[in-house]
Amino acid sequence: MDNSFTARAETLDKQDPLAALRAQFLIPDGMIYFDGNSLGAMPKAALEAVSEATQQEWATDLITSWNKAGWFALPTEYGDRLAPVIGASAGEVVICDSTSINLYKALFAGLSLRPERQVIIAEKSSFPTDLYMVEGALASRPGLEMKLVDDLLTAIDESVAVVLINHVDYRTGKVAEVEAITARAHEMGAVVIWDLCHSAGILPVGLNAAGADLAIGCTYKYLNGGPGAPAFIYCAARHLPNVSQPLSGWWGHAQPFAFDTGFAPDAGIRKFLCGTQPILSFRALEAGLDIISGLDMAQVRAKSLSLTSLFIELVEAKVPALKLASPRENALRGSQVSFTHPEAYPIVQALIERGVVGDFRMPNVLRFGFSPLYLSHMDVVHAVEILREIMEGDVWKAPRFQARSAVT
Ligand SMILES: Cc1ncc(COP(=O)(O)O)c(C=O)c1O
Repeated sequence: MDNSFTARAETLDKQDPLAALRAQFLIPDGMIYFDGNSLGAMPKAALEAVSEATQQEWATDLITSWNKAGWFALPTEYGDRLAPVIGASAGEVVICDSTSINLYKALFAGLSLRPERQVIIAEKSSFPTDLYMVEGALASRPGLEMKLVDDLLTAIDESVAVVLINHVDYRTGKVAEVEAITARAHEMGAVVIWDLCHSAGILPVGLNAAGADLAIGCTYKYLNGGPGAPAFIYCAARHLPNVSQPLSGWWGHAQPFAFDTGFAPDAGIRKFLCGTQPILSFRALEAGLDIISGLDMAQVRAKSLSLTSLFIELVEAKVPALKLASPRENALRGSQVSFTHPEAYPIVQALIERGVVGDFRMPNVLRFGFSPLYLSHMDVVHAVEILREIMEGDVWKAPRFQARSAVT
C-alpha cells in the first residue's frame, strides 16, 4: 500500500478518541472484522456476565433469580438504558423477542391507532422479513392492503394507516429521510414505524425529536448483543394509553401474577411484551449496552464516516473492478460500504480466508460493515491491500471459493 495512505491512517488512528474501546472486545488475532452490521463482535464483559448468569443466577439461585437477580424487570431496565441511544425516553422502549416479532406487534399497534384505515405502505427495497411480516399481518386481518413503492415520500396519501421505513438500507447502506417521511406521514394522518436495525448504536437516532410513533430493531449488530440477542420495540409515550398489540401474552398483562382469566394490558411499555424472555441472552446483551450507553453518538458517527470514506477512496484507487453501490455523500451513508462485482460471492469467500470478514448479499453485492468501536483506519488500509492481492492474483477463482454455504 502506498505510504501516503498509511501515514494518513496512522495519524487518524493516533487522533482517534474511541481507539481504546477495541480492548473491550474479543477479536481473533489476524482478523479484520467488517461484519458488525450483521453480528457485532463480542464484548469481553459478556463472557463474564454469561458465566455469572449461568453459575450463580441459574445453577445456584435458580427460581429465586426472577426476584433476587431482577430477571423479571430486565426488559424494561435494559429498554431504559437503550432509550437515550435512539433518542427515546425511559418508559418508551422495551427489549424483547425478535425484530420480526416486534414488527408484527408494531404493525398492529399502528393499525390500532388508525382503525378506519387499511393500507400499510413500505419500500420495495425493505429488508425482506419486514415485507414478509406485513404479508403475515394481511393474512390475519382480511381487508388490509400492502402497497410497495420506490419512494415513500411521494406515495403516502390519506388512505395509509401505517408507513414502514428502514432507516438504513441493508443492501446499500443508504440513509432514509426518516424525519421528512415521518412529517409527511403525519400530515396525511398515518402512523410511522422505523426499522432501526442498521442505525441503532451507529447513527444518532432522534425518535422523539422527529415525533416518531413506533420503532423496532435488533441488538445483535452495532449494539453487540450476541447471536439471537433480544430485539427492542419503541412506542412514543403519547400513544401508550391507546395502542394495542395482538400477541397478548401474560408478560404484557397489567398483573401477570394475578393469573386472571381475561387479558388486561399493562398501562405502559410492558404491554408490548408477550411471554418469558431469554434471560441468558439478556445478560450477554448487557455488556454491549454498557459500552454504547457511555458513548457520544456524534463521536461514533464521525469515526464511522472517517472509516467508510477512507475505505471508499482506497478501494476506488486500488481495486477499480469493484463498483461502489453505497452513497458517496457522507450524510447519505450509514456505516456500511457495498460494492458490486459479478463474482462478488467468491471474492468475499477469498477475503474471509485471508481474515477480512465481510459478507455477500444477492445478487452481486460485497458488503462491509464498519464498527468504530473496534476498527481502526490501519485495519482499512490492511484490508484493502488484501483485497487488491485477491483481485490482482485472481485468487478468488479457486474452486473452493465457489461453493455456497447456507448462510451467506
Ligand atoms: C432492516 C432489518 N430488519 C430486520 C432484520 C432481521 O430480523 P430478525 O432479527 O427478526 O431476524 C434485519 C436483519 O438483518 C434487518 O437488516
